Order: sequence, then structure tokens, then C-alpha cells
Amino acid sequence: MRKLIGGQMGFINKDNKKFNLLKKQQIFCNGRSALYAILKKIKNKINRVYVPTYLCKSILQPIKEIGLNYKFYKIKNNFNYNLPIKKNSAVIFLNYFGNINKRYKFLKNNYKKNIFYIKDCTHDIFNKYHNINNFNKREIYKFASIRKYMPFSLGAITNLKSLKLNAPNKEEIKIFNRSYKNLFIRGKYFSYPLKTIDNSLEKKMLTEQSNFKIFENKNILNSRLPKHIERKLVKYNLKKNLKKRLDNYLFLKKELNCKINIISKTSSFPLYLTILLNQNNKKILKFLHKHRVFACNLWKLPKEVSKKKYKESHNLSKRLISLPVDHRYKKEDIKFMASILHKALKI
Ligand SMILES: Cc1ncc(COP(=O)(O)O)c(C=O)c1O
Repeated sequence: MRKLIGGQMGFINKDNKKFNLLKKQQIFCNGRSALYAILKKIKNKINRVYVPTYLCKSILQPIKEIGLNYKFYKIKNNFNYNLPIKKNSAVIFLNYFGNINKRYKFLKNNYKKNIFYIKDCTHDIFNKYHNINNFNKREIYKFASIRKYMPFSLGAITNLKSLKLNAPNKEEIKIFNRSYKNLFIRGKYFSYPLKTIDNSLEKKMLTEQSNFKIFENKNILNSRLPKHIERKLVKYNLKKNLKKRLDNYLFLKKELNCKINIISKTSSFPLYLTILLNQNNKKILKFLHKHRVFACNLWKLPKEVSKKKYKESHNLSKRLISLPVDHRYKKEDIKFMASILHKALKI
């Protein structure tokens, strides 16, 4: 049986070679904690946060946790939007699948006082234009959940400066260690063809997976990562794996039928290859999963985004599929993924 494609990455010791991406940034445990820190810093200067109607639900968590007033701005079919600009507010931008939005550039060039621009760079963190190191005078805050690019369940960065995070307490260290341990078992599990996996490994993996949920449910942690985990993250050989990611993306793009509408961009190292279907993605995803290709729907919109009022965003959510292209896959895996997708779409 062939190996699984997709799913959370695991960690294997040999991955751990030197590449120092993170030394300058504040390292948070996840994207929502990084956003939480930004919002906490500006909360006394704003009356409201504007959030896009196309978003993953974790963006709302820190806003709610702090108790900030928020309002949606509408994301249309092509990821464009009209943005109401009111003074004393913060606006969160997402750069969907590497699509740089012209209006965002416009806003950036027309900086107004008391409006705080917060850019979620998760989808294009390696794009020069949005480079996390380019913190500028215009009060643009940036953050990215980088854990999605690596076999780590922890890791996000911001351009916040001189922020003092608490050292993790005992309970938090326990959670961090748990989630860190989880990576190894996951790494082992996902790196073998399934037939070589014995029951005990499967059992261990499932137990770890449910323990890991403890961490996931904790969501926002307002503390530093423990040093030993931070060190591993900083040393991780991201560069090599990013190159493989881009190669896989380009290869998959070549393998896909030209009738498929690819909307993710290669201006950075794409997180996924994302396509926009002419039909609902539910059946297609089911078909892919049946063949052990774990493509995903980014995102199923949170209930706060009204289905009636924001039809265009829901329409996007129902039609997008994101295919994994990370370093775990060889050409044969990519070819297989393309062939299964063609079968599912009957093209
Ligand atoms: C674009 C984007 N930003 C932020 C987040 C939140 O990151 P984290 O899960 O690390 O909190 C996600 C999560 O899926 C995301 O997709």
C-alpha cells in the first residue's frame, strides 16, 4: 500500500541541520498567540478590529479572548475587497495563497494615523515584498504561523520588538514537551509505507495524537517557547525543504490538466498548491481521501461569518482545494496525486 499524502508532518532526527531563519524574531507557539501579542500591544489605541470574511477561525480566537469589538469586511470571489477605514481601528489582512492584493499595497502607501495594519503573512512569509524583517515606520504589524512549513507543531513569528514574554510555567512546559514528543512518533508513522507499520506503532501514534489535542485546545499561550524547543526550531534546515517544496509545486503544476484553475502563486514558497473548482469540493475531497491523498479545504468558515450576508466568501470556501506539496513527497507521489485528482474531476 502506498504511503499517505498530506496530514501533519512528523519530525525525524536527521532533519535537524543548521539553518537559522528565526534568530531575530520573537518565537511564539502558534499564529494565534502571535496575533494575540500584537492585539494586546495596541488594544488601548483601538475601538475595533476589521477582519476579512474569508479566514480561518483561529484568527478570531485572540480577538475574542481579549474582548475586542470586531467587524467583518467582505472578501469577494477573486479575493478582492472593499475596506471601510475608520480611525482608531486595526485591520487584519490575509494574503491568500500568495496573491498579493493591490489594495493592500495602496493602503500601505496611504498610511493614516491610528489605523493599525496587521498582516498575516502565513501564506507568503518567504516573499520579499512581505518579508517579516521589513518592519517599517508605517506601523504594519506582521505575523506568520511558520509551523505549517515545518515538521513542528510549534512556531510562529512576528515583527514585534522588545516584547517580554514570560517563561513557560510547569503546566505549559508539559504541554510543549507533549506536543514535541508527538512529532517524533508522527515522523516515524508517516515516513513508512503503511504495510510496514505494526499495530503497536499505530496505537502509540493514535494515543499521542489524542494527547496532542490537549495542546491544540489550549490555543493561546502567552509565554516563550522552552529553550530546548526554540533551539531545535532555530536550527531546522528549512532552506533545503523549501526548495523541495517549490520543486514539488512546479512539478504538480506541470502534471495537472490545464483545465484546472490554480490560484496559489509561486512568488514565495507556496504552502500548498491551491485550486478553484467549478463545483463543490466535498465529493472531490472525499474521493481524494479515499485514495489516501489528504488534500484540505482551507477554510471551512467559522459560524460567525454569516452564510446569507457573505455568500461570496462561502462560495470560495466550497470550491477551493489545497494540495500538499511539501518536502515529504517524491515525483512519484506528486504524479499519483495529479492522476487521482484528474480521476476525481473526470478530466
Ligand atoms: C493564514 C493563517 N493564519 C493564521 C493561522 C493560525 O495559526 P496557528 O494555527 O499556528 O495558530 C492559520 C491557521 O490555520 C492560518 O491558516
